[in-house]
Amino acid sequence: MKNELTNDILKVLYTEEQIRERVREMGEEIAERFAGTRPLFVGILKGSVLFLADLIRACPLRCDLEMMAVSSYANATKSSGRVRINHDLQQDIHGRDLIIVEDILDSGNTLAFLQEYLKAKGAASITIVTLLDKPSGRQKAVSADYVGFTVPDAFVVGYGLDYAQLYRNLPYIGILKPEVYES
Ligand code: PRP
Repeated sequence: MKNELTNDILKVLYTEEQIRERVREMGEEIAERFAGTRPLFVGILKGSVLFLADLIRACPLRCDLEMMAVSSYANATKSSGRVRINHDLQQDIHGRDLIIVEDILDSGNTLAFLQEYLKAKGAASITIVTLLDKPSGRQKAVSADYVGFTVPDAFVVGYGLDYAQLYRNLPYIGILKPEVYES
């Protein structure tokens, strides 16, 4: 079957199998670290949805789940530095151990903002889990506690990550052809 998304991909960085294996490892590590506690996973929409769904299934813990929607990119390839909350937590997080789940840590603007915001709401601890880390993009001093893969300075899409809202449904992670966002 012709795949109209695949035509825009320059190179596959991580296959479905590689992602599945890495997410399974991360789930085991997190389950071990939080064994006997009841952490609250906070998934950051929209990019994290595929990763979050797989991660929590790899993490056999008693846990809660919340979603937040924040945005900073507004259809551009570079972070604007401004973060806006589009959907907030639905419960009191005072005294809770939070596990923030992100698809990518790039400039750090989103996570720097979220750390401050969630700390101010009284979280007991904040653990950051990101599938991808792109250190070359960093503008804020933020680091993740758990990183799936460290990626090069390229525009990556798939498995939740978008360009102009497309490509989130690719089952793998790939580098987008430059002509797609330069045109
Ligand atoms: C992306 C991604 C992270 C953030 C990371 O979200 O999901 O939340 O950017 O970039 P940063 O480290 O430079 O802040 P985006 O705002 O594109 O929204 P989306 O998840 O809905 O795609």
